[in-house]
This record gives sequence, C-alpha cells and structure tokens, in this order.
Amino acid sequence: MDIESKFADITRNLRGSAVRDLLKYADRPEVISFGGGMPNPLSFPLNEIKEIIDHILDNYGAKALQYSSTDGVEEFREEVSRRINSRYGFKSTKSDIIALNGSQTGLYMVSKVFLNKGDYVISEAPTYVGAITAFNAQAPVWAPVDLQDDGMNMEMLEESIKKVISQGKIPKFIYVIPTFQNPAGLTWSLDKRKNLLEIASKYDLIIFEDDPYSELRFDGKEIKPIKSLDTEGRVIYMGTFSKVLSPGIRLGFIYANSDINKKINLLKQGVDLCTSTFSQYIAAEYLKRGIIDRQIPKIVQLYRKKRDIMIEALETYMPSDTKFTRPDGGMFLWVTLNEKIDTEKMLKKALEFNVAYVIGSAFYPDGRGRNSMRLNFTFSKDEDIVEGIKRLSRAVREGYGLC
Ligand SMILES: Cc1ncc(COP(=O)(O)O)c(C=O)c1O
Repeated sequence: MDIESKFADITRNLRGSAVRDLLKYADRPEVISFGGGMPNPLSFPLNEIKEIIDHILDNYGAKALQYSSTDGVEEFREEVSRRINSRYGFKSTKSDIIALNGSQTGLYMVSKVFLNKGDYVISEAPTYVGAITAFNAQAPVWAPVDLQDDGMNMEMLEESIKKVISQGKIPKFIYVIPTFQNPAGLTWSLDKRKNLLEIASKYDLIIFEDDPYSELRFDGKEIKPIKSLDTEGRVIYMGTFSKVLSPGIRLGFIYANSDINKKINLLKQGVDLCTSTFSQYIAAEYLKRGIIDRQIPKIVQLYRKKRDIMIEALETYMPSDTKFTRPDGGMFLWVTLNEKIDTEKMLKKALEFNVAYVIGSAFYPDGRGRNSMRLNFTFSKDEDIVEGIKRLSRAVREGYGLC
C-alpha cells in the first residue's frame, strides 16, 4: 500500500520529539537520565490517593466512572477556581474553568482554536519542546524572542511584533512559561510581566500563560502569574496537576475568558468528549481535603536538595567555562557549554557513558542552541545526580578533545 501519499501534509512532515526519542534510552537501567521531565516517584501521595479513591467510589459510585460534561466536573472546577483565586488573587468562577486531560492537550487545543497555517506565534527562545510539537500541527510561523535572566527581551519582542505587522499579519498569541521556565529554569520579573501586558494591550494580542511549575518554589519571593494582572481578559492561563499530584492522572485546566472558553469547549467535544471524570474527582478531593498544602512543602524540600546537589556537582566537575542557570524552583536547569561543543553530536558519547540529557536545539523552533542542554534534577536519586554529572563532564571533555 502507498501509505505516504495518503497522509495529510502536516502528518507527513511530523518528526519525533527529542524528548520522546530519549525516553527509550532512559529505560536502560545503567543510564542516568537527566532527559525526561518526570516528577520524582517519592512526590506522589500514594496513601492519600488510595483513601480518596475509596471515598469517591463509596460516595459518588457509578457517577465517578461515567462520562461527564465537556467543561469538567462541577466539584473539580469549583475547587480549582477556589485554589487559584486564593493562591494568585484571580477572580475566577467555576464556569471560567475548563478541565483538560493534561495541559499538553491544552497546548494542542488552544493552538487549534487560534492558528491557521502560516499564522505567527511568538514564544520565548528557548521554549517548551512539547509546545513546539503541539503548535507545529497547525503549521504556524514561529517568532521566537530571546529569553534573558528576568524574562523576554522586551525590545526584541516589540521589534518582532512590528515586523509581523509590517507583513500585513498579526501574531495570534504570545506563548510564555514565566515561572521556572521549561527548559531554562528562569523566572520573569514582575516588571517584565507588567510590560508584556502593556505591549499585548498596545497591539491587541493574546497571551497564553503556561504555568506548570509556580507551586514548586524553593527560594525567593513569589511573583504572581501574569493572569493576576490581566484586566482585559487577554491572558489564557493554563495549569496542571502533573507536578503537584501525579502526571499519570492526566489532569490540567484552562482559565480564560468566556469567548475563548466557548471555542475550546466546542473543539474539545470533538477531541475527547470529556476529561477523565474519575481523575477530576480525585483532584477535587485532593484540593478539598487540603492534602495539596501538606504535599507541596514535601515536594519542594525533596527538589530543593536535588537542585543543590546538581549545582554543586556542576560547579565541581564541569569545565570552568560552563554556564548554567540556578533556578529558584521547578524541575530543570539549562546548561550552556563552550561554543565549540555541539550537544547533539555529544549525545552519542554521553550515552556511551550512560548519561542522558535533552539537546538544546530541541527547544528552539529555529534550531538554535546547539551548545546547550536541559537537565532535569527532580527524577534521579541524589547519588545518581553526582555520578551523572561526573559522566557528563567526561563526555564534555571528550567533546573538547581534552581527554
Ligand atoms: C511548560 C509545560 N507545559 C505543558 C506540559 C505538559 O504537562 P501535562 O500534560 O502533564 O499537564 C509540560 C510538561 O512537562 C510543561 O513543562
């Protein structure tokens, strides 16, 4: 059968993501993988979930195993709304919340709602590899704007918007991960958050704020999400339970204005009918019982230590011209090596030494970042973090021809 000729143009051009390709190496027991974005299994509240499941089956019975409305289960939307209002000063009501089967689905659906082929999307550079994959299914044109230590380069952002406008187009949205960014681990300052809103308002643009990590703050003062400053309903806020409960329950949510929500809802009817009813009851109960407030400090303590171990190992073992970010939270740090090094070429060597990472260029829609890499510090055991960085430094030194 000639299957190639039957694929849609978009499907024919789809390429596997570097993260996915890497997971098969991460499964080999001898490999220490800093590649995937996995929470540590110790962060899952197993006993509490067991109790909650019993409670749900006893109290809701078949209802918890049934289809539910496309927007989500009432109890879930109510608890999420209550939580984000109290945490971030949002003014949401339960009807502003749409449940998602993981926020990855939200990336796909929001891009589907807004993008025609050839439409412009502005993102940070680097940005989340999964967003690149999801948006690319709509064949947009990327306008990546460099990320600085305190957020996007705002001059570059405005120039980029003007350039798109001069071509008779308007960027459809600006996609950002402003807190403990994936992959860079950086956090936008309050000033830049305000500035982004001003620019978005000036050019009448939508901001898509993806916020999986802000609950995982190890140090420093909290900076509220951009959505909390939004007076014009131009920010689509997206959260997830993957990093504060479990990624396996596949549960995220969107908080956006009603015009946007209506379109997402219509699209979602065709995508998945509804989000897992059972998972929504679990998460609602996790919030209602306040378990989340006991669990997050435990996760933060676990991850802060791992971040410190990784930073110390990088300082001790990597060549002195290595630069890396020192995140105040989240799950990743970003390493920039001597510009002679190509981390894609180096990956083979690293895997021979049984250590894995994600190549930097995977996080740039335009393929930059060749001498950089993303390291996850949350998944590996403490002793494996040190050993993994030792192995990585050997691979880097071989890359230099130093050993
Ligand atoms: C920035 C960002 N957005 C979205 C996701 C998708 O998460 P999930 O679908 O598990 O909610 C991730 C996962 O790592 C992420 O880092």
